Amino acid sequence: MPVDELIAAFVVDVPDFPSPGIVFRDLTPVFADAGAFRRVVEALAAPAAVDPRAAALSGAARQPDFDVVVGVEARGFLLAAAVALVTGTGVVPVRKAGKLPRERVSADYALEYGTATLELHTDSITPGQRVLVVDDVLATGGTLEAAVSLVEQLGGVVTTVAVVVELAALGGRQRIAPHAVHALWLV
Ligand code: PRP
Ligand code: HPA
Repeated sequence: MPVDELIAAFVVDVPDFPSPGIVFRDLTPVFADAGAFRRVVEALAAPAAVDPRAAALSGAARQPDFDVVVGVEARGFLLAAAVALVTGTGVVPVRKAGKLPRERVSADYALEYGTATLELHTDSITPGQRVLVVDDVLATGGTLEAAVSLVEQLGGVVTTVAVVVELAALGGRQRIAPHAVHALWLV
């Protein structure tokens, strides 16, 4: 089954959450199913080699085009850690304000009402390092735009922004441009 159909089969639509008129796409069942989770993680990592042992045996290893995976709190953490593991890279957290203990950079982003702040440790990314940024959902794009800006403040090079679901009507992709957005399911 194509990965977008698989995701669609597991996502649960929740009307009027978190507020009236919003249909919330709940991805937790995708993560809870072992087969679906693996497919999604491997698809997010594409075109990186996802099985280093198989790649080594065939002699046709495709190296990831990133050096590290950045995951966005909170649901992005579930995915980013798994993507890092299957690609043989490390994982770095972008956290909501006040959680990271050491020197950090900050970026504000818009919520429906007001603003919020994301942060990244300054020594988590080195200049020129190639970064895959991962989250579960691209909606308005404010969150991922802020995450990308944090990586870039530290001199990192965002090669791709990868998400499971893109709520295409909200225009998030335009906010991330010119960075490539790799979305597994557009809805
Ligand atoms: C959700 C989702 C994305 C973001 C997408 O996170 O996990 O990070 O919203 O929305 P946007 O594209 O409009 O910015 P949320 O802020 O609800 O945090 P959580 O993962 O901690 O639940
Ligand atoms: N589902 C999950 N996360 C989200 C959504 C949604 O529909 N919209 C914004 N973040």
